[in-house]
Order: sequence, then C-alpha cells, then structure tokens
Amino acid sequence: MNALTVIILGAGEGKRMRSRQPKILHQLCGRPLLGYPLRVARAFADRIVLVVGPNADAVRAEAGDDVHFVEQGERLGTGHAVLQAKPECGPGSILVLPGDVPLLSAETLERLIGHHIASGAAATVLTAVVDRPAGYGRVLRQGGRLKRIVEDRDATDDEKKVTEINTSVYCFDAARLWPALAQVRADNDQGEYYLTDAVSLLARAGGRVEAIPVSDPLEAMGVNDRRQLAAVAAIQRERILDRLMLEGVTILDPATTYVDDTVTIGPDTVLHPHVIVQGASSIGGDCIIGAGCHLTDMRLGDRVRLKPYCVLTSSIVEEDAELGPFCHLRPLAHIGPGARVGNFVEVKKSRLGRGTKAPHLSYIGDATVGDRVNIGAGTITCNYDGVAKHETIIGTGVFVGTNSTLVAPLTIGDGAYVAGGSTITHDVPPGALALGRAQQVVKEGWAEKRAKRRREATQKD
Ligand code: UD1
Ligand code: CA
Repeated sequence: MNALTVIILGAGEGKRMRSRQPKILHQLCGRPLLGYPLRVARAFADRIVLVVGPNADAVRAEAGDDVHFVEQGERLGTGHAVLQAKPECGPGSILVLPGDVPLLSAETLERLIGHHIASGAAATVLTAVVDRPAGYGRVLRQGGRLKRIVEDRDATDDEKKVTEINTSVYCFDAARLWPALAQVRADNDQGEYYLTDAVSLLARAGGRVEAIPVSDPLEAMGVNDRRQLAAVAAIQRERILDRLMLEGVTILDPATTYVDDTVTIGPDTVLHPHVIVQGASSIGGDCIIGAGCHLTDMRLGDRVRLKPYCVLTSSIVEEDAELGPFCHLRPLAHIGPGARVGNFVEVKKSRLGRGTKAPHLSYIGDATVGDRVNIGAGTITCNYDGVAKHETIIGTGVFVGTNSTLVAPLTIGDGAYVAGGSTITHDVPPGALALGRAQQVVKEGWAEKRAKRRREATQKD
C-alpha cells in the first residue's frame, strides 16, 4: 500500500497574465486551467490538496467537494506553497502538479508514479526536452543523473543552453520531502522559496533523484501569459478534433473549427467550416452543422440539420429538426422532433411541438406551441407589456397567418386559424377563425378619378 496525495499548486498570482482573474480560472477549450490537473489528479489520488491564494472563493467553488484546500497567505514561491500543504498530506507518495500545465496526460503521470515507486527514489522529476527552453527551469545532470535544477533567471549563459527543462511535475517520498523543504532558502533572484531547490538538496545529500523526460514535450507547456494560453489552446483544440474524428465525426476544416473539451458529438455528424461548439453541449449522430454555426450549452438529437449561421444557446433541439440559416435560439428554447425554424427566427423560453414550422422572420418568446403548427412569416409573440412577461399557448394544428401579432397572455385552441395580419388580443377557441385587423375598403375607379382631379388642377394654374 502506497498512498498517493496530489498537491496542486494554484496560489500564484499569475502576474504575467495581467488579469483581475486568478490564472487557473482562465478558460482553455471550455474548462478553467485548474480543471485539467484536477481531472488527471482524480484518476490517481487518494487525496487532493489544492494550494490557493487569499480571496480565492471562486477557485474553491470551481474545485469541488473532494478537494482539501490550504491557503498560502503570502506568495513566497513554489517550495513555500508545497510546505503549506504539509498538514493536509498523508504519508506515502506525493505528486506535485502545477496548476498552469494543463496538457499533461494520465499516461504520463502513471509512468512517472510507476517509475518513482519502482526505483524507490526520494524524488522523481518529470522533465521535457524542448526546442525553446527559455523561461523554464533547466535540469542540470552530471554523469547522467540529476544534479540540480536552476531557474531561467538564475542560470548562467551556459546553463541557459540546456534544453532539458523542469515541467514542475514531481513525485516525492513524503518522509524525505518535508525535511528537505525545511532547508530551502530564498537566496535567488526572486527571493522566493523554490521547490526546485528541495530537489537539488535531495540530490546533493546523496538521495536517489530520478529525472525522466516526457515522451511528448508539448505536454509540458506551461501557461504564464496569454500568448502561452493561446498556444496551449491551439494544441488542446487539435487534440479534441483528432479525438472526435477518430470517433467518427467528419470535420471539413479542422483549422477553423472550435469545439470545447466538454462537448460530445455522435458519429457521422458533419461539421462545416467556422463552427464553434462550446460548453456542456451534446450533438447526436448524423447531424449536419452548417458553416458558421455557434452553439453553446446545446443539446441536439440525431439527424438535426443546421443550415449556416445559426446561433444557439442553452436549448434543446430534438431529432430530425431543421434550423436556419440565420436562426437564433436563446436560452430554454425546445424545438420538437422534425420541427423547422427558418431564417431570422428568434426563439426564447418556448417549446415548439413535433413537426411545427416557423420558417421565416418571427419572434417566439415565452410560448408553448403544439404539434404541426404553422407560424406564418413575420409572426410576433408580444410577451412583454413593459412590466412583466406573459405566456402564449398555441394548440395542436393551429395555423397562424403571416404577420400576426399575438398579444400575451393568450391561448389559441387546437385547430384554430389566425388570419394573416391580425393583432390577436383575446383567446381563440379551438377550431375558430380569428381575424384581428381593420376591414379592407375598396374604392372602385379611385385611381382614374384621382388622375382626373390632378389634370383639372394643373389646367387652372
Ligand atoms: C516553475 C518552476 C520551473 C519550471 C516551470 C514549469 C519553480 C521555482 N520553478 O516556474 O522550474 O520549469 O514551473 O512550468 O518551481 N505557485 C504557488 N505559490 C507561489 C508561487 C507559485 O502556488 O508562491 C504556483 C503557481 O500558481 C503555478 C505554479 O506554482 O501554478 C508554478 O508557479 P510559476 O510562478 O508559474 O512558476 P514558473 O516560473 O512557471
Ligand atoms: Ca508556470
């Protein structure tokens, strides 16, 4: 039995982000940075300890109930941060994960932990050999073994040439970590207590320190500023699209397709260029997502067809429905099976029944629309009287003529007809025809009479 505590370092101010928000709450493909180390930690840890800074309520809320928190009152460095976690840590092994290195895979950590346990090391450091090591701590070896880690800003020009870097991921034997950390001094360029110095101390004291390079150095990319956030996001995005394509999703242009890590998509669905799918969205199989569609927190059934440029948020679209081009679902729209929502139609907090059609130029808000209803072009539900919102209920098989104004609260019974151009202010019983417009007046021969009057007027002048 070798218990494993994972310490996630998340107290840094993230100065280089120049943000009011804690760095680890910045979003990366639909999850906060913190979500990534937490996800891999949960795969192994007996206990997860998160080091947070002061006033980190938002970070605590994001982390979840299974996490133990310690507060680092003053940011005195990574070594100081780990030391704060000591009272929350058990015996056995300690895996340290930085909060700002999101691309680490579970396989890599499994290999690191396995190597650490098998070798009986005091510390095992995950390293990476990279083309551009600038900014990272360098791993200095002697006779192949790790001798010391030196921070970029403390390194000599020769040391800066070393391309093997410290990923900030370590496995420690708890019993040997704590005494070493207690010896770390803040005698460096930043005046901070460096965790890397604890590793160097263990090596110098003759303890066994292992350093194993990660197979894919991209996993080691850290996020210190927004350029790195974008660079890491580009890699994560590619991974997500690769996974989806291997799962059977066709992506016509991966270079312009943005899908969050939190999204699921069924096989044989086709994503056209410039599609963005965000948040807790799920898309069924055999769907077509047209060019430029932007989906956030959406649920789509199978065989849904989105024509180009639909903007859909926090809503449900059932199987075989067809939407767009240019349609807008605002939160809590629910489009029934086989329904059709066409161009320049906005739907908010409304349900459209099976096979119902709203093909053009409508606003449907706070409405419950039954099955097989036809909503004519230009129909508007007037749901707001300037003070409160009111509901419109439209029964099964209703025909609403074009350019109707439906003033809520309003109920239109099953099978009723609303004549085009009506303003409907009173309930319509089932099967009735409602006309709510001025009677048309026809004046025969009016144009000829008008022309004659004009001719007479000019003759007088
Ligand atoms: C650190 C390592 C460096 C390594 C790099 C990899 C040290 C001294 N340096 O540098 O060798 O190459 O990561 O990405 O460890 N944090 C705290 N409290 C603090 C300071 C930092 O919790 O007082 C947290 C940060 O929130 C962050 C992590 O520790 O998640 C790393 O800190 P950061 O300042 O980003 O270190 P780097 O300069 O990147
Ligand atoms: Ca960092």
